[in-house]
Amino acid sequence: MKKIFAVFTVLLAFIAATATASEIDKRQVLALNELQRDHILTEMRVLLSGTQRILEALSKEDMVAVAEHARALGMGMAHKGENHLQSVLPKEFMQLGMSVHKAFDEIAADAESRKDPRHTLRQLSESMMKCSTCHVTYQIRVTEQPDVPSGGPAAEHFHGHH
Ligand code: HEC
Repeated sequence: MKKIFAVFTVLLAFIAATATASEIDKRQVLALNELQRDHILTEMRVLLSGTQRILEALSKEDMVAVAEHARALGMGMAHKGENHLQSVLPKEFMQLGMSVHKAFDEIAADAESRKDPRHTLRQLSESMMKCSTCHVTYQIRVTEQPDVPSGGPAAEHFHGHH
């Protein structure tokens, strides 16, 4: 009897744990396939390393390099294949994403015209609030596997907008 009770308790604890697990991340779900997820996360890592490069250039007050690294994260970057994702991502998500790219173009333009590191830092800090806003709002969940291995026709179609 004692043993059955113990098993029952463990079972209850397990059910409670799995129930909370599905409650933990309440951010809005972006239901994507592996390819789409990879595309977004790759862009994210570019945003992070680009931001790091901007900061490094700023620490040296090298405003030419600041402009260069900021422009790499601008609208030019956004046009790389994002029209494919447009149909699967919420409008608000796309708009927030675009506003980040626009902000980096502005940072680049101001770095060239004003050459004021403090101004750039302020702009960078403001635009990075958008990173946080989006991250607290959305999460990616993979819903389907890609039907063709990467490198196949599907991948070609996916990257076909470069
Ligand atoms: C429009 C929405 C949006 C914006 C803006 C945004 N991100 Fe993201 N980012 C996401 C989503 C969605 C994920 C995946 C989160 C998840 O599934 O938990 C992500 C993940 C990441 C990751 C993890 C990448 C990986 O390989 O796992 C990094 C790093 C990142 N973002 C950096 C940034 C930086 C830096 C900025 C701003 C310059 C930024 N992001 C702006 C939506 C956004």
